[in-house]
Amino acid sequence: MESRESGSAGESPAAAAERLEEEQIRRLGPLATVEVTTGAHVAPMPAKPTLVDFFERRFGTVANHCLQSAQRALDNGAKEETIFACLIHDTGMTVRRPDHGFWAEALFRPYVSERVAFTIRHHQSLRFFAAPDYGYEYPAIYVELFGPDYVPEPYIRAEYEHARNHPWYEDAMQLVVNDDYSFDPEARPSLDPFIDVIGRHFKQPPEGLGWDASPSSFMWRTLIDPNRPL
Ligand SMILES: [Fe+2]
Ligand SMILES: [Fe+2]
Repeated sequence: MESRESGSAGESPAAAAERLEEEQIRRLGPLATVEVTTGAHVAPMPAKPTLVDFFERRFGTVANHCLQSAQRALDNGAKEETIFACLIHDTGMTVRRPDHGFWAEALFRPYVSERVAFTIRHHQSLRFFAAPDYGYEYPAIYVELFGPDYVPEPYIRAEYEHARNHPWYEDAMQLVVNDDYSFDPEARPSLDPFIDVIGRHFKQPPEGLGWDASPSSFMWRTLIDPNRPL
């Protein structure tokens, strides 16, 4: 890729992250033309939005990557809770990118099992540490994003240690290994095979996401209208 090759020594991590994101958006094509986080025009939402509506109208590029991860988990014979965790794992990025695992956990906690909440939170820290038992290596893209000598901050290491010693570590690692290779620019996975999975693992509020007075309703409202002045 042209832009990747133009990356040079001296480029700041923020500039590198922006460049890589742009590159990924270009590679993923039309799905990414509306990115919520840019504050660009966003499609209208129904009065009582469902998780599927957010996939179709708000999750943009991230939806494609998450669908690829879920499809991969499905193809690998993962259990359904893991497939569902893969399906939603990076959607917190559409609220804010830093600490996206924490954002995803906060966004979804009122509507998913404790185990899924744990899994989506902890994939963030586990991605920073190779896990030979799972054939998982430190991602090359992190070397580009954070530099070759990067040492994860203490809170990331603490999160990692906590997850590694937790009974649900296996669940989080199943997400990590299905996450790792899910950036195929040609893939256009459909949400259709996962509609029933969502039905079984996501407690859709009858009032619509954003309007049900849960602890994370305000985040869903921010996604519904990211351009609100206040
Ligand atoms: Fe992630
Ligand atoms: Fe991911």
